[in-house]
Amino acid sequence: MTVRRVVPADVAALDWLDDGTRTGVAAAEAAGAGRSLVLAEGGAEGLVGVLAVDLPPWRDRTVPWLWLVEVHPEHRGQGIGTGLLTEGHRQLAMSGHRVVELGVAQANPRAATLYRRLGYLDVGEGVDPGPEPWIRMRLTLRP
Ligand SMILES: CC(C)(COP(=O)(O)OP(=O)(O)OC[C@H]1O[C@@H](n2cnc3c(N)ncnc32)[C@H](O)[C@@H]1OP(=O)(O)O)[C@@H](O)C(=O)NCCC(=O)NCCS
Repeated sequence: MTVRRVVPADVAALDWLDDGTRTGVAAAEAAGAGRSLVLAEGGAEGLVGVLAVDLPPWRDRTVPWLWLVEVHPEHRGQGIGTGLLTEGHRQLAMSGHRVVELGVAQANPRAATLYRRLGYLDVGEGVDPGPEPWIRMRLTLRP
């Protein structure tokens, strides 16, 4: 398995994502490396995981905002999400970012457990952008 930047041809291969998410990935990729970090993990079976981070000041972000980490349902629980997050954190730190934030639904405690294991701390909560309550989490990146 290797983690690499998503290129336009990858978007069609991410057909296991729902349409809205795939459209979001395409837009993030098209925005360019200065605005967005979009990584995928792949192997012999194609792309099995994807991660996307908005980089400030794009979309009025004040800190990098990790809005997507998703692993193909048949490949979960094998370390792929951890690998993607770890590489994403490394690349953000290498480009000078000092924190990254994300929102996780309160109804998704397994994902929250994964983030806390990687060092994220709870820093707030909200109900936007959807009706579901979510927790805002922040990781301080090591330079
Ligand atoms: C959350 C997610 C990206 C983790 O990826 P992963 O490759 O399964 O994660 P890893 O194998 O590196 O780590 C597994 C840990 O992830 C967490 N996890 C969350 N959802 C999980 C799932 N459906 N299956 C397995 N592990 C899951 C658990 O804490 C697990 O820890 P454990 O091994 O002690 O049980 C993945 O489960 C997923 O795509 N879930 C659906 C989309 C989602 O909820 N994204 C996060 C939105 S904030």
